[in-house]
Amino acid sequence: MVSITFIAGARPNFMKIAPLIHAVKKQQKEGEAISYRLIHTGQHYDEKLSETFFRQLNIPHPDANLEVGSGSHAVQTANIMIRFEEELLKNPADVVVVVGDVNSTLACSIVAKKLHKQVVHVEAGIRSFDLSMPEEINRMVTDSIADHFFTTSEFANKNLKKAGIEADRIHYVGNTMIDTLLANQDRLRKPEVADELHLEENNYFVLTLHRPANVDEGEKLAETLRAIMQNAGGKPVVFPVHPRTASILGQTGLKYDNLHFIDPLGYLEFIYLIKGSFGVITDSGGIQEETTVLQVPCLTLRDNTERPETVDIGTNVLVGTAIPDIEREVKNLVSGNRKTGRVPELWDGEASDRIIRKLIELYGEE
Ligand code: UD1
Repeated sequence: MVSITFIAGARPNFMKIAPLIHAVKKQQKEGEAISYRLIHTGQHYDEKLSETFFRQLNIPHPDANLEVGSGSHAVQTANIMIRFEEELLKNPADVVVVVGDVNSTLACSIVAKKLHKQVVHVEAGIRSFDLSMPEEINRMVTDSIADHFFTTSEFANKNLKKAGIEADRIHYVGNTMIDTLLANQDRLRKPEVADELHLEENNYFVLTLHRPANVDEGEKLAETLRAIMQNAGGKPVVFPVHPRTASILGQTGLKYDNLHFIDPLGYLEFIYLIKGSFGVITDSGGIQEETTVLQVPCLTLRDNTERPETVDIGTNVLVGTAIPDIEREVKNLVSGNRKTGRVPELWDGEASDRIIRKLIELYGEE
């Protein structure tokens, strides 16, 4: 029997965990000896950042919720470690699977490894080489102690090889987030705001910003929004606001006729909105991948990306965070310069099946 503990902590984890659990269930139906527990660390706890995703993506109710909540990085990481250690001692598993790069990923990898479990990292090896991003530290630490590495890109494979990881521990399987994207194409839901704001297909922008570098300083955030709004050609800009950004925005008192702040959307509504948009402006990691697959132009307001394939062959433009660059690229897109692209290899909806089959091969009994 292969026993797996899956870790899910924050919003971008949920769309990566969902297809993995569906793939386990498929193998169980086919008679494979594989069992799992799902642990929610409680890093994200708002209904809109967490519960909605479980419901919409048919993720089973977690077997345990560690309810760590918010805090400084040290407090949050430490609380996850303390509570996950107890959980894993009470309910041991052979393999702990962590996804992505959030604090829960880091905390649970360390705990699992110190309890001599096998640690498997899904979305391993990607790097921004920017240690001012907490996610980069989380990726580096997790990859320094993981046993097996499931990757989304050749870039990730190269980074891991360069770090001295043996080739037989690196498995290029594709992208679990894209598994979820493709599996839900027929279930997408028009959000109510689309009608309320009279959005016309292909004639509005979707904007998301939540990285500390872009939102933690009110004046910088205000300048960024000004650069976008003055060059958006009058197109409505819909901005689902992350709680972190909301608290700063409240202080800026900003207002533009065409800029619409809305609550965070569910997965099915958010993908519906970006799929029908003229373009997306973001500082998110996952959205760079989703827009590349949906063939929607994406302007990434960051100085680096850990997902360079979305720029090299996809629809993503790495704009940077300087105001003149943002102005130029928004103007450029509005004037009709739309980047087209291809979908990276193996981003085909089958990554999770590949991962679970590999785990059975690695850890199943002979
Ligand atoms: C986390 C991830 C980031 C990911 C993002 C997606 C880390 C280091 N960062 O950042 O990689 O892109 O999630 O959303 O793990 N808050 C709420 N309700 C919640 C959760 C958080 O109001 O359910 C507030 C907290 O009070 C906190 C802020 O949002 O002040 C940030 O939350 P946190 O989980 O620490 O990091 P994110 O910025 O969400």
